[in-house]
Amino acid sequence: MERTLLMVKPDGVQRGLIGKIVQRFEDKGFQLIGAKLMQVSEELAQTHYAEHASKPFYGELVDFITSGPVFAMVWQGEQIVALSRSMMGKTRPPEAAPGTIRGDFAVRTESNVIHGSDLPESAEREIALFFKPEELVVYDHVI
Ligand code: CMP
Repeated sequence: MERTLLMVKPDGVQRGLIGKIVQRFEDKGFQLIGAKLMQVSEELAQTHYAEHASKPFYGELVDFITSGPVFAMVWQGEQIVALSRSMMGKTRPPEAAPGTIRGDFAVRTESNVIHGSDLPESAEREIALFFKPEELVVYDHVI
């Protein structure tokens, strides 16, 4: 079963959007297999965003993700990486369609409410960064 890392960013946590965001993925029929409210360390942020290290906004990215608690989650489901990305909407909120999470809740690219892995390979890498295997549950019955 495909898995992905989804994370409500500090802006989403502070605005009280965790419940609404979780609801969307539950409504879609995906299964939550791990979740925690956590403070991202500087080291974790740098590793997580390593692919953006050469970008001009890298410093801002690390500062933002470490600026307050995030709600990190692992979800599973068929084609969840691609489907969750389409539910999130485009990275830049002005381009995100209404009905998507960013289209409905975000205005700024720098604080766009949610992170989701872009490929199944990055999902597995990111899940291993944020969660220990024993923090994830296994369901007897997969829907
Ligand atoms: P995400 O896809 O979670 O991970 C990379 C993040 O970089 C992306 O969300 C945006 O929040 C952020 N980002 C992309 N472009 C810019 C930009 N021009 N300025 C600041 N942040 C950006």
